[in-house]
Amino acid sequence: MEKIWAGRAGGDISSAADDFNSSIKFDKRLYAQDIAGSIAHAAMLGKCGILTADETEKLTVGLGQILDEIKSGRLVIDETCEDIHSFMEAELTKRLGSLGKKIHTARSRNDQVALDLRMYLRDEIKEISAGLKKLICVIIEKAEQYADAVMPGYTHLQRAQPVTFGHYLLAYGMMFSRDLDRLADAQKRVNISPIGCGALAGTTYRTDRAYEAEQLGFDGICENSLDGVSDRDFCVEILSALSIIMMHLSRFSEEMVLWSNWEFRFVEISDDFTTGSSMMPQKKNPDMAELVRGKTGRVYGDLIAMLVTLKGLPLAYNKDMQEDKEGLFDACDTVKDCLLIFAEMLRGTRAIPENMKKAAKEGFINATDLADYLVKKGAPFRDAYKISGRLVALCIKKGCVLEELSAADFKSESELFDEDVYGEISLDTCISRRVSDGGPSPDSVKNQIKLLKEKISH
Ligand code: ARG
Repeated sequence: MEKIWAGRAGGDISSAADDFNSSIKFDKRLYAQDIAGSIAHAAMLGKCGILTADETEKLTVGLGQILDEIKSGRLVIDETCEDIHSFMEAELTKRLGSLGKKIHTARSRNDQVALDLRMYLRDEIKEISAGLKKLICVIIEKAEQYADAVMPGYTHLQRAQPVTFGHYLLAYGMMFSRDLDRLADAQKRVNISPIGCGALAGTTYRTDRAYEAEQLGFDGICENSLDGVSDRDFCVEILSALSIIMMHLSRFSEEMVLWSNWEFRFVEISDDFTTGSSMMPQKKNPDMAELVRGKTGRVYGDLIAMLVTLKGLPLAYNKDMQEDKEGLFDACDTVKDCLLIFAEMLRGTRAIPENMKKAAKEGFINATDLADYLVKKGAPFRDAYKISGRLVALCIKKGCVLEELSAADFKSESELFDEDVYGEISLDTCISRRVSDGGPSPDSVKNQIKLLKEKISH
C-alpha cells in the first residue's frame, strides 16, 4: 500500500519499521467515528464552497457505503495500511478515483485522530455510565432487602459500631454515584471538537469549524489549534475516573472475598459466580471478585502509562501520542466488563443476617452507646468513655457481653446506671437511634436510597 505521505520521502519504509509504525491493528476500532468525521468534513467543505455539491454528495455516499460494508463484514479493513485514516482515504480513492483524495483537504491526521478518539470516548462514557447505573440499581435492591440486617461496622478491620448491611451497601452506592458525576464532568471536556486544527496551525482555506463540530454533535471547538492536536487531558481525565471506579470495585470485591469465607460467612455468592478447585473438593472460590480486584491494577497501569507518555512531550503532535489508544481502549473494556460481572455477582449474592448479627453481638460494638447513655444522664463524655471501657474489660474477664452484666456490675462503675440500660444498649436500639443524616437508622437509610434513585433516574 502506497503511503499517504509518500512525497518528500519515497514511502518505501522497511517492513520492520512499517510494522512498528503502524497502528491499524488497534485503531481499526475507530472506523465508524472516522467515517462519521469524514462525512461531516465533506459537508463542511461543500458548505464552504471548497468542494462542489456533487463532489460532496459522492463522497458522502461513498463513505456511507464503506461504513455499511465494514459493518456487514463485506469489506475487511486492510491491515497493511498504516492506520485507519489512511485505509479510509485509500478505500475512498479506490472507489471514487481522485475525488477520494480530496477528502483530506483542510485537515490532517493529527486533528482527525484526536476527533475520532473524542467521538469514541463520548460513547464509551455513556456506556460506562449505564453500567454504573445498573450496578447502583442492584445495590439499591439489596439495600432495601437488607435494611434491617444488623452487622458490625469496622475500623482497622476491628468491630467498631453497629450498622446494617443495607447501610453498608449504600456506601458503595454513593461512591458509584460520584463516579457518574466524574464521568459527566469529563464529558464536558471530551465533547469539544479538534477538527480543523489541521496538523498544528489550522488552515488557509475558509473553513467553518463550528459547523463541522455541530454536524458531529460537539458542544464547541478547541480554541487553539496547537492545543487541539496536542491535548490528551481528556484521556487522562477519563482514565483517572476509570481508575477510581476500579478502586471502588476493588474495595467492594475485597469485602466480598473476605465476607464469603468461613471465618466471616456474612454473604454467600451464588454458585454460578464462583469456581471450584481442581484438587480441593470442598472449595468455592470467589474468582469473579478476585479478578475484578486484580484488573484494577491494569487500569491504574493504563492511567500511569498515559501520564508518562505525555510527560515532557513538546507541542504539537508527536508520534508518541499513537500510544494513547491501546491503554485507553483496554481501560474502557475492562471497566465495562467488571461493572457488568460485579453487578451480576452481587445480584446473586445472599446475605446471612444471622451470622452478621452474631458477630455484631460479640464485638462490644455498643460500647459507645453505653458511654452515650451515661452522657445523657449527665456524665461528661470522657468519664463515660472510661467507665464503658472498664465494663468492656470486665466482660472480657467474665467471658460475657455488655448486655449480660448484672445491674450490680453496672452500678459498681457508676451510680447513674439504671435498669433501662439494657434496652438502651440493645443492638436494635443502637441502630434505630443513629438518626443523624447519613447514618444507619431506617429513616436515614430510606433517605439515602431516595437520593440514589434520583441520581440514576436521569
Ligand atoms: N496513527 C496516528 C496516531 O494514532 C495518527 C496520526 C498520525 N499523524 C502523523 N503525523 N503521523 O496518532
